Amino acid sequence: CGIIGYTGNQGNVLDVLMTGLSGLEYRGYDSAGIAVSNSSLTVRKREGEVSALEAAVPDGDLDGLAGIGHTRWSTHGPPSDANAHPHTDADSTVAVVHNGIIENYQKLRRALEADGYEFTSETDTEVIPHLIRSALDSGAGREEAFRQAVQHLEGSYAVAAVFDGSETVYAARNESPLVLGIGDDGHYLASDVPAFIEFTDQVVYLEDGQFARVNPSGIVVTDEQGAVVETAVETIEWDPEDAGKSGYDHYMLKEIHEQPTAIRKCLRERVNELEGTVTVEELADLECDGPVQFVACGTSYHAALYGAKMLQERGIPAQCFLASEYDVGKIPITEETLVVGVTQSGETADTMSALRAANRVGATTLALTNVVGSSAARECDHVMYIRAGPEIGVAATKTFASQQVALAMLSSVLSEESSMEFVKRLRDLPDQIQKVLDEANAREVAEEYDGSDAYFFIGRGYNAPVALEGALKMKEISYEHAEGFAAGELKHGPLALVTDQTPVFAMLAGDSNLSKTLGNVKEVEARDAPVVAVTDSPEEVGQFADHVLEVPDAGPRFTPILANIQLQLVSYWVANQMGRSIDKPRNLAKSVTVE
Ligand code: G6P
Repeated sequence: CGIIGYTGNQGNVLDVLMTGLSGLEYRGYDSAGIAVSNSSLTVRKREGEVSALEAAVPDGDLDGLAGIGHTRWSTHGPPSDANAHPHTDADSTVAVVHNGIIENYQKLRRALEADGYEFTSETDTEVIPHLIRSALDSGAGREEAFRQAVQHLEGSYAVAAVFDGSETVYAARNESPLVLGIGDDGHYLASDVPAFIEFTDQVVYLEDGQFARVNPSGIVVTDEQGAVVETAVETIEWDPEDAGKSGYDHYMLKEIHEQPTAIRKCLRERVNELEGTVTVEELADLECDGPVQFVACGTSYHAALYGAKMLQERGIPAQCFLASEYDVGKIPITEETLVVGVTQSGETADTMSALRAANRVGATTLALTNVVGSSAARECDHVMYIRAGPEIGVAATKTFASQQVALAMLSSVLSEESSMEFVKRLRDLPDQIQKVLDEANAREVAEEYDGSDAYFFIGRGYNAPVALEGALKMKEISYEHAEGFAAGELKHGPLALVTDQTPVFAMLAGDSNLSKTLGNVKEVEARDAPVVAVTDSPEEVGQFADHVLEVPDAGPRFTPILANIQLQLVSYWVANQMGRSIDKPRNLAKSVTVE
């Protein structure tokens, strides 16, 4: 879910809230709503995307002193107008938006209902306005009522509230992101910076357990006891242009094309081609003598699988865990273990929970993330930024490539091994990616196989995680059945699924076991499946394939990164032909802040 709040002198509360919600839609988009405070509170909310809410709020319909908004990704209660945020008390004295999960909401709800407070939604969030109201009814002032309500909550939350007739927005956070923005004409709060980057780049990150009082004239941050906390104002270096589509039809296509730039930024000042060295300044204090465990979800998990192979190749014991399956009670972990959380957003609840568990047992933790100041960045002992810039499309593209490159550098830092060739290979990647983008024939291939029964992806070694990622991308945005397999596993079961209606995308990119993987290709060919080879060896491979998606040779470690770009494009064009909602696929959210 995404939260936006604004109070200021611009007299355009509605504009700011709507802009903010559009900037946050990637966090969830099954319903949206706003509350604006004037002499009374006005709430407008709608099931569906932010555009549905926009249609329900004509220009000039609302003016006010302050407001809050929310875009929802359902956890409790299906998407509906009633379950959309903001939620209010019975008299609309206070409106509340919330991101996270309130674990004790049933108990709180029963107690409030017993006291006569009536609920109108199925959400966990609705307990908050009633708790505030109950505190007001017991004589508390507004700020005190907000604080008391929040102190009843167990679970994860970023909460914002406005009261009728007031220009103050109150906020609190625990384990869900919340950032404050300081502008010339007012103050902002949001789950993430893109919501208000158009208006200001000056930000203050709220910490767990902190509260904020946001007025047109300033912000005051307090701790749980109410003592004022000194805050540091940081400058965000994202250009607002970065957050637009820059002429592409979809953010995803724009982000695919941003990969050369993203990789250049990731490498900047970290690799020295003359000396053949890799130096990651943020990791100067990192010492690692023990095994490495990766925890991650989704696309980031595939990057972690790729990174783990690189560490293993350099003699460092490395294991990968799906963050939701990481159980420190059941796996060997000691103070020597380095636990690396790979997470684009730095907010994924499953990954955060694994990292927090690792912190508790005293392991060293490292966040590999894109978002400066994210929870992972702040809570881990060390952080390495992948510097991909904001990624708005729900399906991760440029952040995956940046994670792969960052992990390659990490493998060099941890093993204290580098070479002229390694660094040169890294430095060549942006131009090679550009070549793939410029010469891509992925669209024709996508058109050829549109309407297939299923899409399969196979690869060996460094290509295996890329095969998994290729299938995930296809599923996410085309809604078609797609599966990725380690090439050698195909014959142990999945081969039963292969027919002449199931194209098989074979990753033969920098494959050091090419002849074995070609053997697997022949197995599917013999079952009449169309074969699309993604390869830097078209001469050797072309005769076994119906189509070739060619990539430059970047060596065994890095050619799969290039192959993945081709797969991103194939998925994009298949989904585009099918008219799918590419940037916001159904049922998915970019940042999943619940376990
Ligand atoms: C969500 C997104 C995926 C993403 C995963 C992990 O499920 O839809 O695209 O890979 O979260 O996100 P993270 O921010 O931790 O990399």
